[in-house]
Amino acid sequence: MLSKLLLSCIIPFVLGAPTLTPSAATPSASAGNVSTTVSGPYSLVTTSYNYSSTAASSTISSASASTLGASTTGVITVPLSSYSFTPYPTPTLSPLPPVYPATDPLSPPSVSSDPQVVPDFAPAWATAYQKAKNLISDYTIEEKVNITTGVGWANGLCVGNIPSNKNFPGLCLEDSPLAVRFADYATAFPAGIQVASTWNRPLMRARGLALGQEFKGKGVNIALGPMMNMGRVAQGGRNWEGFGADPFLTGESAYETILGLQNAGVQATAKHFINNEQEHFRTSESSNVDDRTQHEIYAHPFLRSVMAGVSSVMCSYNLINETYACNNDKMLNDILKREYGFQGFVQSDWSATMSTLSAVAGLDMTMPGDITFDSGDSYFGGNLTDYVNDGYISMARLDDMATRIIAAWYFLHQDENYPVTNFNAFNPNDEATNQHVNVQADHYTLVREIGAAGTVLLKNENCTLPLNKPRNLVLIGSDAGPGKSGPNEFSDQGGSDGILAMGWGSGTGNFPYLISPLEGIQERARQDGSSVFWDFDDWNTALAGNMAYGEAVALVFTNSDSGEDYITVDGNQGDRNNLTAWHNGDDLILAVAAQNNNTIVVMNSVGPLIIEPWIEHPNITAVVWAGIQGQEAGNAIADVLYGAYNPSGRLPYTIAKDIADYPAQLITDDSGSEIVTIDYTEGLFIDYRHFDQANITPRFEFGFGLSYTTFTYSELSVTPIQSSDTNQADLITAWQNGEASPIAEGSSTALWLHEPAFQVTFKVTNTGPVSGMEIPQLYIHFPSSASEPPSVLKGFTNVEISPSSTEQASITLSRYDLSIWDVVAQGWRKPDDQISFSIGASSRDFRLQGDIPT
Ligand code: BGC
Repeated sequence: MLSKLLLSCIIPFVLGAPTLTPSAATPSASAGNVSTTVSGPYSLVTTSYNYSSTAASSTISSASASTLGASTTGVITVPLSSYSFTPYPTPTLSPLPPVYPATDPLSPPSVSSDPQVVPDFAPAWATAYQKAKNLISDYTIEEKVNITTGVGWANGLCVGNIPSNKNFPGLCLEDSPLAVRFADYATAFPAGIQVASTWNRPLMRARGLALGQEFKGKGVNIALGPMMNMGRVAQGGRNWEGFGADPFLTGESAYETILGLQNAGVQATAKHFINNEQEHFRTSESSNVDDRTQHEIYAHPFLRSVMAGVSSVMCSYNLINETYACNNDKMLNDILKREYGFQGFVQSDWSATMSTLSAVAGLDMTMPGDITFDSGDSYFGGNLTDYVNDGYISMARLDDMATRIIAAWYFLHQDENYPVTNFNAFNPNDEATNQHVNVQADHYTLVREIGAAGTVLLKNENCTLPLNKPRNLVLIGSDAGPGKSGPNEFSDQGGSDGILAMGWGSGTGNFPYLISPLEGIQERARQDGSSVFWDFDDWNTALAGNMAYGEAVALVFTNSDSGEDYITVDGNQGDRNNLTAWHNGDDLILAVAAQNNNTIVVMNSVGPLIIEPWIEHPNITAVVWAGIQGQEAGNAIADVLYGAYNPSGRLPYTIAKDIADYPAQLITDDSGSEIVTIDYTEGLFIDYRHFDQANITPRFEFGFGLSYTTFTYSELSVTPIQSSDTNQADLITAWQNGEASPIAEGSSTALWLHEPAFQVTFKVTNTGPVSGMEIPQLYIHFPSSASEPPSVLKGFTNVEISPSSTEQASITLSRYDLSIWDVVAQGWRKPDDQISFSIGASSRDFRLQGDIPT
């Protein structure tokens, strides 16, 4: 029925490159404002700049001796590691081209929608380690310590700074995961959640590369992204910075983003390690997570980051199982550095270091250096020097810390003509330190494409979309227009006014410009001769209804915002207070739908919302989930509405019917505890895994998204791939026999575990009227004995198909993809009994079924 209807649709445009002419600015409209309060040290960012090129950790005095394993802020264990490390633990077996070529981060394997190559960064790390060792060979203890200690908050050009020393020029560390924060002439890219919604590896890689080029052009050594926390809690304030609520999708997004960033020459930072899943109590909550859940869900994106050769990992503010993340021997030393064979360095989140002895627990660099912003002391700095001199911390460990940091710099070839920092994060108007280097190139075209490709079409009755030269359109809602004082009205985007194209907090940047939907749509309407009317008053629902009455198309725009805890917007302290639309959105939509039977909802939301009040309204003919699109938001929306881009975005999270349907809720009550306990009792059952297990029908399931065309699937086949490395035969046989993988340095990132082991092929046919992109998804169904969720995403690809054509698609699976974490054996194990799988168009729309050959 659906395909018949679609076949009768008249499609004005087909998939293709959109016309890219930025619209002229329109006069700003009056829109309701919301209150904003800024707390904490980030309010300092506009204060004057106080830079001294000689500032070093020597300016930071010793903290009191009571810092030895103690803290004023909560629980600290004394972290004495039981693990020893070689200087560069090598996760690889013998390199085996073409599956496992020696890889330089500046020339990664080319992107593929079905990646079959496992890059081997070990030789490049080994070379970098040797150079780093040579460089520090004549360093004093103090000089080595300086490499590990930031210069203190706002004492350098960037949000984090490592001082220069002898032949080492120092390091600039700068946010964010979507832009060069606090810089001008830089692009405001779509958020992480948007690129995850594309389910498109080439776009993920392209975004990483373009971002990386901008960071490098500005002289940033270390980009503070990507962010890969999991969206465990739907209201989590920073979820939009990350890649959704599934570890596999997050892991692939992280992997491609890092390969792209580092390809450009900048060091990437995988953050926040780990379990920083909500903003409330982020510095005083203990996320209590069982070992299997940690391995299979939360740590997986970090494992993929290590496999992408990530140079840095940022430990988070929270505690994990009662121990602070930056002090957590189990997470840093055991899992990250031993199991994953991570060879770069661990930096703290800003002021997340809690002890000098964190160095022994695996922390390599403290940021921004001082214990609290501007405190003038440090857990590293003079204290670290004392601890090494007094024998509390070995010289070997200090050498390892400095070596890891400098090796990461060599690993990215930053010793070879790397640009010097040419902007000033703390004083953007200072003439001496801001060179205003334009790094934007033509990245706006990519922003526009990802904005459209990450937009998810949720409802489209009677071929309402794409629009076909409507007589007129009315745009209702403040989200359709520009903010009244421009796109950078609020510091760190900590407010909500006009089109929402970024959340708030440190994960933001300044917009160079921001195309609103009004601008994008008007430009298109001019071509069609359509009239455009608008009304941006969210609260006058009577006026909105009157404006909508009798018009050919009524578009209602609304949004939902969130961010980081140090800014409170309209009573939302980072996390969202609820899952309802902001700015009177539900009532506005209903008021318009009451008067116009061709009402289209466009939603710019940081995450899921409860849309039950209106989703089934018969006058609401289409719903466009536009996400967090960056500076080209209005153009990207227009491209989808008019069919210049045929929607191919898929939900990276579940949209529930009721907030209580989600397995984990936001904790906002500390019950008077110094440390708030957050037990991850749902275990493996986050997001769709829980809905499937508990048989709860969501409104829109994970992986869902419509197109302007339709697809069918056929001809499934699955073939084992022979390993070409005989050295691994015993490990593979043991795995096939159900034995857990042995644990050793790099054991979880080993080639035999991650090389392609099975190839699944099938055909996809475009049965509709226009070209389109389908996103086939592969879900594993483990046997019940494995106690896994009913369906687990382990593969996806993207296939672009012309009308009435059929394309072959392929998804490869590794042994790791088919394994579960065995807590007792501490290894990856293939469950007993038959493993089956489905290929489908979402987590609940399976089209083909198969079994993994035994
Ligand atoms: C955030 C990090 C950020 C850092 C530096 C912290 O508050 O959690 O994500 O990179 O600040 O701005």
